[in-house]
Amino acid sequence: MDHTLPGPAGLAPPSDRDRRFWLVATGAAGGVAAVGTAIPFVASFAPSERAKAAGGPVEVDIGEIPPGGIKTVEWRGKPVWVMRRTPEMLAALQGHDAQLVDPQSAKEQQPAYAKNPARAIRPEVFVAIGICTHLGCSPSDVPKGTANPSLPADWPGGFFCPCHGSTFDAAGRVFKNKPAPTNLEIPPHRYASDTRILIGDDTA
Ligand code: FES
Repeated sequence: MDHTLPGPAGLAPPSDRDRRFWLVATGAAGGVAAVGTAIPFVASFAPSERAKAAGGPVEVDIGEIPPGGIKTVEWRGKPVWVMRRTPEMLAALQGHDAQLVDPQSAKEQQPAYAKNPARAIRPEVFVAIGICTHLGCSPSDVPKGTANPSLPADWPGGFFCPCHGSTFDAAGRVFKNKPAPTNLEIPPHRYASDTRILIGDDTA
């Protein structure tokens, strides 16, 4: 069954449908202002029913994700983002380590192969569980340069959680002085081919 959902339209809180589907949370939305226009978002929930039932790996075709876009799939009941980062997005990961809680990914929020500056096997392809590490809301992707009082003036691009204002860069690294305590989680994954990723399987 195709579970295609619309992607976020900006910094606005997730749609009601998104919330019903994903929100683990909280009932305590912080009322943060909505702004900005999100980068392209390929929202395609199409894991097989068998894979979903078993909690098994979910295969993702990354070939259809445009530069700067995100595809979201469901794995073990969680949204998993697969983002194709541009060279500009990768460059923007540098220069703000002092503003981050865990810039070197010291905490166990990722497999060993994603413990690197890009937090990825291939720098251009970022895979992360799209659940805020505070109380479980689903952040939105917000491009570099978006102007909003809820974001740093030199916003490098990344993710914004509308519930209580946590901010993460485009490698899912959380900014200091925000409620979320840790970076976004990177799920186990591996490349099944040049253009296909298996989420939930890193054994090969
Ligand atoms: S759930 Fe509280 S900041 Fe994300």
